[in-house]
Amino acid sequence: MSERGAVIDALFPDRVADLGDDELLALYGPVDRSVPRLRANFIASVDGSATAAGLSGELGAPADKRVFDLQRQVADVVVVAAGTVRSEGYGAMRLGPEAEAWRVAAGLAAQPAFALVSRSLDLDPASDVFAVAPVRPLVLTSDSAPADRRAALEDVADVISCGATGVEPSRLVDVLVARGLLQMHCEGGPSLLGSLIEADALDALALTVSPNLEGGQGTRITHPSGDAAPLDLRALALDHVLNSDGMLLLHYSRRR
Ligand SMILES: NC(=O)c1ccc[n+]([C@@H]2O[C@H](COP(=O)([O-])OP(=O)(O)OC[C@H]3O[C@@H](n4cnc5c(N)ncnc54)[C@H](OP(=O)(O)O)[C@@H]3O)[C@@H](O)[C@H]2O)c1
Repeated sequence: MSERGAVIDALFPDRVADLGDDELLALYGPVDRSVPRLRANFIASVDGSATAAGLSGELGAPADKRVFDLQRQVADVVVVAAGTVRSEGYGAMRLGPEAEAWRVAAGLAAQPAFALVSRSLDLDPASDVFAVAPVRPLVLTSDSAPADRRAALEDVADVISCGATGVEPSRLVDVLVARGLLQMHCEGGPSLLGSLIEADALDALALTVSPNLEGGQGTRITHPSGDAAPLDLRALALDHVLNSDGMLLLHYSRRR
């Protein structure tokens, strides 16, 4: 049994039974930390729903949680849009002591940075996201954000404008890379992913397929950001397929 509980087997490119954390870290870590990479991590049911009972967490299982945590562990910054922060009840971005020790031994900052993406700045400066953050969070917003909310958040976070009316993905990447945060890991949600796809800013996608049929009216993992023109297909290369009791953990990279 693996150290963190859920047994995960590799099916592709090689068959390996019961992967250890080091093997998973090798699969999910960057090949070259000096090359910027923006990756998103999502989960969907087999019939394409990104939520069950309104939340993505309901689709998860220990295997997905294990890989979710390991992706944070190798990231320089975790990027999450405000809708997901609010609906999933995010607190401070703080990894556990084991992950922290691993990062320090690997020469990384003890904790990843946390970047929140919001147009409205409807974020509570007194919430745990900010109040007990181990690293001062970043709030990425636009020039049109309400000035009073911006002023209140500036007491607890670095608030940075990345566009006139919304966060432009290329500006988001430039801002993070300029701060040395090259390994960018996005945990959602669907509206932000829509912006990243439309701007062709995404380099990799980790997608968990949960072995459930959800039915209903759950959202897809991506929403269009507005009146964007129809897109050409964005081709992806399959990097690996892992299996844990019927839950598939897929990893794709954008073909450039
Ligand atoms: N299946 C999965 O893996 C997964 C992952 C994450 C979330 N979810 C689910 O998705 C649902 C939430 O969906 P959502 O579309 O509201 O999620 P979202 O993308 O997290 O949040 C949308 C909000 O984020 C901000 N935002 C997104 N893109 C922006 C941009 N380019 N510029 C400026 N602000 C931007 C805006 O915040 P303001 O309103 O503050 O301006 C916007 O209203 C929840 O049910 C959650 O459980 C599923």
